[in-house]
Amino acid sequence: MSDVAAQIAALEDAGQDELAAALAGLSGGRQKQLSAQVAELDLGLIGSLVDRFVIAGEGEAALGEVTEAPTIPLPADAEAERSEADARSAGENLLRSDRVSAVLLAGGQGSRLGFDGPKGNYPFAPITGRTLFSHHAAKIAALRERYGCSLPWYILTSPQNNDVTRASFEEAGWFGLDPDSIRFVIQGTLPAVDARTGAILREAPDRLALSPDGHGGLLSALRRSGALDEMSGAGITTMFTFQVDNPLVRVCRPEFLGYHAQAGADMSNTAVRKVAPEEKMGVVARVDGRPGVVEYSDLPDELAEMRNPDGELTYWAGSIAVHCIEVAFARTLTDGGLKLPYHRALKKVPHVGADGKLVAPDEPNAIKFETFLFDALPAADASITIEAAREDEFAPIKNADGVDSAESARLLLNGLYARWFEAAGLAVPRGDDGAPPDLEVDPRFALDAAELAAKLPPGFAVDGPLALGLDEGPTTAR
Ligand code: UD1
Repeated sequence: MSDVAAQIAALEDAGQDELAAALAGLSGGRQKQLSAQVAELDLGLIGSLVDRFVIAGEGEAALGEVTEAPTIPLPADAEAERSEADARSAGENLLRSDRVSAVLLAGGQGSRLGFDGPKGNYPFAPITGRTLFSHHAAKIAALRERYGCSLPWYILTSPQNNDVTRASFEEAGWFGLDPDSIRFVIQGTLPAVDARTGAILREAPDRLALSPDGHGGLLSALRRSGALDEMSGAGITTMFTFQVDNPLVRVCRPEFLGYHAQAGADMSNTAVRKVAPEEKMGVVARVDGRPGVVEYSDLPDELAEMRNPDGELTYWAGSIAVHCIEVAFARTLTDGGLKLPYHRALKKVPHVGADGKLVAPDEPNAIKFETFLFDALPAADASITIEAAREDEFAPIKNADGVDSAESARLLLNGLYARWFEAAGLAVPRGDDGAPPDLEVDPRFALDAAELAAKLPPGFAVDGPLALGLDEGPTTAR
């Protein structure tokens, strides 16, 4: 039997008759193209997801008992400051002894932003128009320099955006980093299925409607690509993971690495205070006594709105999706296949109908399946959550405008740099609304307020919009 004939038989066995017929009906290069995609499908997995979520109509697994998670608060007294200083030096030791890698999640589709291309290519910076990738790369370069470490950088991409992501790094001269110190890891994909029948959908006659399998796919992608082995071989024990859409992220923050290491944790979280009960953030909590993040869409309103006697939200700990994950833990989670639950999402997916014509649905018609990285938390024997100052670490760019947009991030970044300049004793002009001008500081010039204060030349003044960069030296841009 030819490969294609075997595939047709396997699809029929799996109840995917429509796709089997479509494959049989094609010829030449188009059949080859569809056959190559079918070869990558895990029909056993898709079958079990369809059985559960389409045929049996199961929803998400019922949420267990949610209780507050212990957190390490922002230091409020001298003793807490001493603990934080201990954690910082433990984290710095980890970095200096080359035990840490940086792992950037950039495999998503960024559909809400409406930006064409990988989200990392989004030019978020108000003066220089620098992209998110360029900004993250500058932080990696600065950390390598500061701690004299190799800090290998792994970037999770998807088959949809890997080539263009890699090409943009090449075009940018790898942002001055050694190309061998950056490794792209391609996550897997899963097909969308018809929400009523479970039939695998095609976006074109010879192409499946595939999308990334969720950021939980990071773990299998690291395992499959040999990246976990590579890390173990190089003596790396801990991965610092972060999302592409947050230009304020403090990559490899030593305090966080240190607290994580001191606790002997498998996987840890960074949390900031939610601004409102309905804010679209997962909350760090315990679920049935285990560590976890409860996604905003799963948190019942009464828990989201619950307040302590002091008026604070009980579930204030919004996850900014910044984690420390032990390499050994990632290995356990992927031994014999990925041990994470699948989630379902009902979406509008354009697809080829039975008559071969493209259908653009008005209503959600399809189910996509995904795993989430934070669902690894319940398997952690030890886990810590550190509170971070929101204005210092979280400026997500998710939407084209309004909340969590480039505009809200611009204001937050300006605020951060203004505080740095003010801490260095400089006056920063502010408008009638108190907002500082547009400010940019290249992370290679200064990673934090102390470094900025140490590097500013005497007599330096901020008198308007300003971009401080290592290569150009201090420049004023108007
Ligand atoms: C996410 C979190 C939410 C958290 C918030 C903070 C989920 C499900 N929710 O929400 O709990 O409070 O961020 O900003 O993650 N990605 C991949 N591969 C994929 C899917 C996503 O690499 O298959 C990456 C994206 O490129 C992005 C990140 O994961 O860097 C977040 O994905 P997104 O779907 O935008 O999550 P949010 O709904 O914003």
